[in-house]
Amino acid sequence: MTGRPLTVLVVGATGSIGRLVVAEALRRGHGVRALVRDASRAGRILPAPTALVVGDLTKPATLEPAVEAIDAIVFTHGSGTREADVRDIDYAGVANILTALDGRRVRIALMTAVGTTRPGTPYAAWKRRAERLVRASGDPYTIVRPGWFDYNDAGQRAILLRQGDTEQSGTPADEAIARDEIARVLVDSLTNPAAERLTFELVANEGAEQDDLTPVFSALTPDAPDALDGAEDSPNAPLADEPQRFRDDREAIARLRERAS
Ligand SMILES: NC(=O)c1ccc[n+]([C@@H]2O[C@H](COP(=O)([O-])OP(=O)(O)OC[C@H]3O[C@@H](n4cnc5c(N)ncnc54)[C@H](OP(=O)(O)O)[C@@H]3O)[C@@H](O)[C@H]2O)c1
Repeated sequence: MTGRPLTVLVVGATGSIGRLVVAEALRRGHGVRALVRDASRAGRILPAPTALVVGDLTKPATLEPAVEAIDAIVFTHGSGTREADVRDIDYAGVANILTALDGRRVRIALMTAVGTTRPGTPYAAWKRRAERLVRASGDPYTIVRPGWFDYNDAGQRAILLRQGDTEQSGTPADEAIARDEIARVLVDSLTNPAAERLTFELVANEGAEQDDLTPVFSALTPDAPDALDGAEDSPNAPLADEPQRFRDDREAIARLRERAS
């Protein structure tokens, strides 16, 4: 691997993407810590060098051991499409982990989904708010919005990154990406400076997977420092129209960062 090995916390490590992230991070020589709810089940799913830390994203008091002395976080947790679940797990999970960090600087890779900026989709709006919290944290980050998992053909492996979230039908027509390639992009972004402060959709074209993602990341526009949204996103959800809960969380997370700097 290039650079020093990191201690990487994987949130959602037992999930269909998280377990591939764990494997990819270990393959690259990183130390991996997995946030899990059920250690005995996780022990059967995840390979032996993974350190298991028990915690629940909906219970902030359980999260401090998970974030102690980490260098990086990959968020791959998820709950479905019920608004209350996405608010209380997908969104609040990010808020609670950032709060537990208490302003300590870490490298973040956050997986959300194609379509987070689609108007009139309440669950997607909470995923977008999770993205907005990561931007407000002041931490170096990459936000990855995958298309449909594993709907790709066998020869459709050429990684394609888009910005602006314009392909958002909410069906596999949004295009597809293999799960293992999502894991690769998330883990690669942690140590690739060209991926810093990027927000992009991730799909695949017909063709071979690239050996080096640096040119693929470098072709994109980074988010402006302290931006609310991704560089090319539609400004269709102004802060003033957002729920008070989100505005409070965003301010509190930005304050933690100011206090720590
Ligand atoms: N399917 C697609 O085509 C597609 C496309 C783009 C984006 N996405 C997004 O991808 C996400 C799903 O990814 P996936 O397939 O990897 O998910 P998954 O297999 O359902 O895994 C979800 C992970 O989240 C963890 N989790 C849930 N609630 C938790 C809590 N309260 N505390 C701690 N961990 C918790 C689960 O832990 P346990 O093992 O303990 O339950 C599990 O590790 C969704 O958010 C979806 O929006 C999906």
